[in-house]
Amino acid sequence: MTNTNNGIGNRYKLPNGCEIVIRKMTIADLEEVHKLECQIYPDPWTFSHFCHEVMENKVSYTLVMELETKVIGFAVTWFIQDELHLANIAIDPQYRNLGLASLFMNVIFEEGLKRKLIRAFLEVREKNLAAINLYKKFGFEEIGVRRKYYRNGENAIVMQRYLPHTHDSNFEVASF
Ligand SMILES: CC(C)(COP(=O)(O)OP(=O)(O)OC[C@H]1O[C@@H](n2cnc3c(N)ncnc32)[C@H](O)[C@@H]1OP(=O)(O)O)[C@@H](O)C(=O)NCCC(=O)NCCS
Repeated sequence: MTNTNNGIGNRYKLPNGCEIVIRKMTIADLEEVHKLECQIYPDPWTFSHFCHEVMENKVSYTLVMELETKVIGFAVTWFIQDELHLANIAIDPQYRNLGLASLFMNVIFEEGLKRKLIRAFLEVREKNLAAINLYKKFGFEEIGVRRKYYRNGENAIVMQRYLPHTHDSNFEVASF
C-alpha cells in the first residue's frame, strides 16, 4: 500500500493496482453517501443527519473513500475533548474484505494521534460480527452493553481502546 497526498486527499494504491482516495466528505457527496447508507443499514441515518455532520457539527470528522470518483465508503467520527467516538463506518458491499475499513481506521487513528486524544469509544450491534472483529483487530475491547439501543430493539456493545501514546509507544497502524 503506497500513500501520497496531493492536497485534495490521500491517495492509496491497493496491491491490485487500483488507486483509492480518502478525503473529507463535502455537501456534494451527500447524495451518494446517503444512498450507500440506505443500501447498507436497516435503519439508516437520514439525509439531514449527514448534512448536520458535514455542515454544522463542529466535533465531526467526516471522510469518504473514492474509487475512480465513485464513493465506496464513508466514516463519521466525533472528536469530543480528548475522546474519539466512531459514529459510523461503512464500505460498499462490493468492496469488502479488501482492507478498506482498516485503511479508514488507520486514517482516523492517525488524526486522533495528531490531536493527542486519549480514548476511543464506539457502539456496535451485538450481532455485527464483521464490525466487532474489525474493532478488535484495532485493539478495542468490550466494556459494556447498552440494552435495546437500536430501533429494532437490538443491544449495542460498547467498545473502548486507549490511543497508543497513552499506553503503548510501539503502536503501529495495521498493514495491508
Ligand atoms: C464492518 C465493515 C466496515 C468492514 O469493512 P471491510 O472493508 O470489509 O473490512 P476490512 O477488509 O478492513 O477487514 C478488517 C477486519 O474486519 C473483520 N471482518 C471484516 N469482514 C468480516 C466478516 N465478513 N466476518 C468476520 N470478520 C470480518 C476481520 O477481522 C478483518 O480482518 P482480517 O482481514 O485480518 O481477517 C463492513 O463489513 C461494512 O461496511 N459493514 C456494514 C456497515 C457496518 O456494519 N458498519 C459498522 C457499524 S458499527
